[in-house]
Amino acid sequence: MALSGQPALLRVLGGERLERPPIWVMRQAGRYLPEYRALRAMAPDFLAFCYNPDMAADVTLQPLRRFDLDAAILFSDILVIPDALGRKVWFVEGEGPRLEPLADAPAWDWADPSTAHERLGRVYETVGQVRADLPAGKTLIGFAGGPWTVATYMIQGEGGDKAPSRLIAFRRPEDVDRLLAALVEATAQHLAAQARAGAMALQIFESWAGGLSPALFRRLVVEPNAWLVRRVRELGATVPIIGFPREAGSQLETYAQGVDVQGIGLDTAADADWARNVVGPMTALQGNLDPMALIAGGDALKRGVDDVLAAFADGPHIFNLGHGITPQTPIDHVEQLIQLVKG
Ligand code: CP3
Repeated sequence: MALSGQPALLRVLGGERLERPPIWVMRQAGRYLPEYRALRAMAPDFLAFCYNPDMAADVTLQPLRRFDLDAAILFSDILVIPDALGRKVWFVEGEGPRLEPLADAPAWDWADPSTAHERLGRVYETVGQVRADLPAGKTLIGFAGGPWTVATYMIQGEGGDKAPSRLIAFRRPEDVDRLLAALVEATAQHLAAQARAGAMALQIFESWAGGLSPALFRRLVVEPNAWLVRRVRELGATVPIIGFPREAGSQLETYAQGVDVQGIGLDTAADADWARNVVGPMTALQGNLDPMALIAGGDALKRGVDDVLAAFADGPHIFNLGHGITPQTPIDHVEQLIQLVKG
């Protein structure tokens, strides 16, 4: 199909520069929306919410009913992969995710990664439902966590400082490599299954790509991400892929050279001019308004949007925040953001 007949987001990921960039917002289905909180209150726990196709499909589409966004992102979580691998995952209200930490276990084991996706049928059902209800011109984005990011949750059992995971990467290199290999396979199967079910683009959230030495960045982030993308292709998925190695700084260049993605997400701290010059020639760029400017609103928001638009005006660009939208964000600021971007 000719690029011009496609949704704006897919045109940009195909390398086109559009006069006005398409926009979506990381964590756009979330607690800043009262309709999200209302539905969330009806589910027994967060994972049950993710695994209920009717609820998850509804929540996925909630932001598109309110705002003129160009994409819906599947409502799910990166931690469905450890769950499908048979590792215990739960969410503590007001705190965040918890897992049984591998760090404490003498022997590391998990279920067969090549069949883990078979336990995630409800997620693909959700994808199919959303796709069937998706308005024309919009893009449905599927996603997964990057292998290193998911590995850190599995190793430590929670978020926070990643030094213990780095230490284990040095102390138990064979175990960590085996874990990353299992995550690459399970995640590739998961992403390919989302594409088969109707996802039109995929994003890899490598949220803990920061703070690594160049050697560790190559070993723990670039190599597993490169292998993941190759494996997704081998499994038959042809949809564009966005990599989001958050806080990678100047190592974004190594990532872009080593991982065959069609777009790269920039976090809030990324230097837009540098990224456009160094990474821009290799892929489309996505980002990177500070979520705090969105909370502040008014002139701060207007200036922030103008700066982002100007910085990326020369190439293929998808407007987004530099990280997820937070619960205290006023809804009318999101409205204003979209008006400012759409002009
Ligand atoms: O972007 C979207 O709207 C799609 C859904 C989505 C969620 N999590 C829903 C969610 C996506 C893409 C994610 C990714 C995710 N999950 C990441 C990578 C992105 C990032 O933020 O760096 C990570 C690290 C996780 C793990 C995770 N899940 C954490 C740390 C938390 C707690 C943080 C919080 O905001 O409470 C979650 C829970 C979670 N995942 C919520 C949502 C909407 C909030 C849970 C609730 O409603 O109580």
